[in-house]
Amino acid sequence: MLVRKWLFSLGGLLLAVSSFAQQWQMNSPTAVTRMEFSLDERGIPRYALYYKEKPVIYPSELGVSLKDAPAFSRGFQMVSIDSSYTDETWQPVLGEEKNIRNRYKEMKITLREQLAPARSFNIIFRVFDDGIGFRYGFPKQAGLDDFIVTEENTAFRLTADHKAFWIPGDYDTNEFPYNTTRLSEVDASDPRFTQHIHAMTFYAKNAVQTPLMLKTDDGLYINIHEAALVNYPAMQLLVNKKDHALQSTLVPDALGNKAYLQAPAQTPWRTIIVSDQAKDILASRMILNLNEPSAVKNTSFIKPVKYLGIWWEMHVGKSTWDLAATQVAGEKLKESKHGATTERTKFYLDFAAKHGFQGVLVEGWNTGWEDWFGKWKEDVFDFVTPYPDYDIAELSRYAKEKGVELIMHHETSGAVTSYDRRLDTAFRFMKQYGINAVKTGYVGKVIPRGEHHDGQWMVNHIKRVAEKAATYGIMVNSHESVRPTGLHRTYPNYIAAEAARGMEYNAWSSGNPPEHETILPFTRIMGGPMDYTPGIFRIKLDYWQPGKKEQVQTTLAKQLALYVTLYSPLQMAADLPEVYEEKMDAFQFIKEVSADWDTTVILAAEPGEYLAIARKEKAGKDWFIGAISDEQKREMSIPLTFLEKGKKYTAVLYKDAPGAHWKDNPEAYSIEKRKVTARTELKLTLAAGGGCAIHISEEE
Ligand code: NOJ
Ligand code: CA
Repeated sequence: MLVRKWLFSLGGLLLAVSSFAQQWQMNSPTAVTRMEFSLDERGIPRYALYYKEKPVIYPSELGVSLKDAPAFSRGFQMVSIDSSYTDETWQPVLGEEKNIRNRYKEMKITLREQLAPARSFNIIFRVFDDGIGFRYGFPKQAGLDDFIVTEENTAFRLTADHKAFWIPGDYDTNEFPYNTTRLSEVDASDPRFTQHIHAMTFYAKNAVQTPLMLKTDDGLYINIHEAALVNYPAMQLLVNKKDHALQSTLVPDALGNKAYLQAPAQTPWRTIIVSDQAKDILASRMILNLNEPSAVKNTSFIKPVKYLGIWWEMHVGKSTWDLAATQVAGEKLKESKHGATTERTKFYLDFAAKHGFQGVLVEGWNTGWEDWFGKWKEDVFDFVTPYPDYDIAELSRYAKEKGVELIMHHETSGAVTSYDRRLDTAFRFMKQYGINAVKTGYVGKVIPRGEHHDGQWMVNHIKRVAEKAATYGIMVNSHESVRPTGLHRTYPNYIAAEAARGMEYNAWSSGNPPEHETILPFTRIMGGPMDYTPGIFRIKLDYWQPGKKEQVQTTLAKQLALYVTLYSPLQMAADLPEVYEEKMDAFQFIKEVSADWDTTVILAAEPGEYLAIARKEKAGKDWFIGAISDEQKREMSIPLTFLEKGKKYTAVLYKDAPGAHWKDNPEAYSIEKRKVTARTELKLTLAAGGGCAIHISEEE
């Protein structure tokens, strides 16, 4: 409850040039968390957060700096507080559960500067049982029309030097492996903690990205991110090692400015999710709840998609995106390694149709690949010109006959100006061939030159593409975009994004360590579904490239479990049909697993160590379980109490075989079928870097 909600009448306030600090507070609906807001004697606003009365965030400054105008940071007096209570349940188009409860108390604070220019400023808090969200509002008023934000000064004063799961701050990429260190050890310039990623823009040693996952020594889990990133740059965090404080910093534009706004305006929500159970962090729907309801009226074209693609074969070097590299001018094609041929696409379409997949992605189908990488130039791709060996009209006909859809690929090579200009033409071209989903990509430095992947300009571009795609009835999956902030609630056709280190890194870099997939749900996926592209069955990659030492750093069974543990309504079966043909019994799980859920139960979780999640499919009654481990072998016991009492079920377990190990023996799996009920407790042994996938169906 608001303790001092109506203490100040407006008249009293105007006189109250305070010489003392004032404080207000609000409890969450069941008083698990508590937020305190204060104004000190200099009129500086601060907030603090408590979880079960333990401090999570000590009083921390709030404010925003502007260009050519004083900052909104001090000299404030309280004008009014409006409080309200919301308890609603809504249904996402696609999601981890059918019904999402949104329950919070809101405190909308209006402040005014005591002295000229005497501007008003809003801070809006929403206090949930699983944490808080807050945003700044800039009311329309004399003296504040168009304005430029030069920095946001939100502090997160932590109580100690917590353990952090972090990636280096960067304006252009988030495709780093995660580091697990104390906050005081963060150094984004240290080669132990950072890797070279194409187009990266390092800017500060003490910078980290969000979602940032923290764990305190006394067992609190804290997740810091943002929700509803709209018309604003992404927020990153600077670590002040002396006092364990984090400070917001925004991704700049080409001129060093951060955001261009016009009053009335508001920032995204800053989110702090907290619990003494790691499971609750994954079960939190706060970020989605802080986004606006769907802006897409007719959502009937939005469907979960399991797909195959002419994709991994390029990453492992079996084929190429590029046709011209093997084509000698004027001569006939010589032994082209081009992947996206009509024939090869038909082979994938046949396989997809036979096994019930909805889509086939084809990369390298269009001209431009001979000229795309690292050149920083415009008009490389026009998105409508197929290579001569790719007969799109015939493939569109063939796909339709087979009941499978082609998935379009638009690699922009970062030339976003070109893409913007051609977007309508490109979408019309897709619709002409019956293609209703697109994977976009932004590899390389952005054009307009000087803009960054995570700046306001690109944030607006990504939203523009999602909005426009919706008007065409097209679903979007973006790669190299800004990391999600729950905007798929508002644009449910924006069904997935990459924006983190995906499977591809296993093919051509030092790869993703076995712990990687146990961290992703606590970090990147807090903001929204990821197109991670699991399902690699040929784990050792020297098959494709003799002598290659790097490999996928999981067992095969763990690859299956990822379909459940890494939430996305878009899931790829990323390996080649030829590879799956050899292991049809294990492939069965990928065929059967759902990508859209009625219910999700987080069974066990510890970031960087292990995860077990059970989900019930939305379309039927079956349950799927994924359990994964980091580099440790471990035992796990899973009580099936979520099943209906008194009912009989059959469980098929896809397990690491005895002796399986991600490095030495990754492809050893076994499949066990057994009867289970709600009273069964499954004892699982997960190999080092291993996992287990389970499909449970009701007995007839
Ligand atoms: C990077 C993307 O993440 C990957 O999926 C894609 O194949 C390449 N870019 C080429 O567009
Ligand atoms: Ca990528």
